[in-house]
Amino acid sequence: MTAAPADTGSGTLTGMPTSQQNQSYWNTTGVTKTYSHPIDLAWLGEPSDRARILDYGCGYGRVTALLHDAGWTGVEGVDVAAGSVDRARREHPELTFRVIEHPPALPYADSSVDAVVLFAVLTCVPADDDQRRLVGELHRVLRSGGVLYVSDYPLQGDRRNLDRYQAFAVRYGRHGVFETGDGAVCRHHTREWLLDLLGAFEVSATREIAVTTMNGNPATEEPRCRPGDGCLR
Ligand SMILES: C[S@@+](CC[C@H](N)C(=O)[O-])C[C@H]1O[C@@H](n2cnc3c(N)ncnc32)[C@H](O)[C@@H]1O
Repeated sequence: MTAAPADTGSGTLTGMPTSQQNQSYWNTTGVTKTYSHPIDLAWLGEPSDRARILDYGCGYGRVTALLHDAGWTGVEGVDVAAGSVDRARREHPELTFRVIEHPPALPYADSSVDAVVLFAVLTCVPADDDQRRLVGELHRVLRSGGVLYVSDYPLQGDRRNLDRYQAFAVRYGRHGVFETGDGAVCRHHTREWLLDLLGAFEVSATREIAVTTMNGNPATEEPRCRPGDGCLR
């Protein structure tokens, strides 16, 4: 899915950490985490060894390896965290991984990639303008008709999440941005924001699934909101 030119730009909110500020977390504590968003390989179509496919924010190469094993042998994983890329290289020495020095800039030509998977990465990039730049860069490298497969968190409706959205709303100026207990600033999204962010793409499919977060908590795709909870902003 791709269509019109990607949208870019908008102001950074007061107090919001930049992508660079968040990087120290992903380079240290983040390296020790376990990730689990499941991938539906059918969404990428028939595997091809000629296709160039990018696992953006690949972590330790979990999804990169699944793609490779499924026949997408042209897959490459990229991540901002050198420690995670080191681990990915150790665990999957046969695969290609790269550290992104200046995210989201990618060292690839325009329209040179057939598909991108973006799994649980938007949640690590809390600011609107950083997310827009990231999606704009993916749009730039994707060929016309290429696929962007995004898996991420909508706003949650449980008490723990509602409380932390409220606790950090003033500091970050955005409902859904919060600090984890171990130092990350993360974001859960409204559906409206995700559709706006991905507005240059034609949405070809969506699904709602339950996942386990990197800190071992359950997350559902469908917020269980009650009137007055404020989770449907
Ligand atoms: C929750 S993990 C998910 C890892 C992997 N996609 C998976 O599902 O197994 C998020 C990953 O995004 C990376 N990341 C965070 N901010 C990034 C950025 N601005 N550019 C690229 N990668 C980033 C982190 O280092 C981390 O490895």
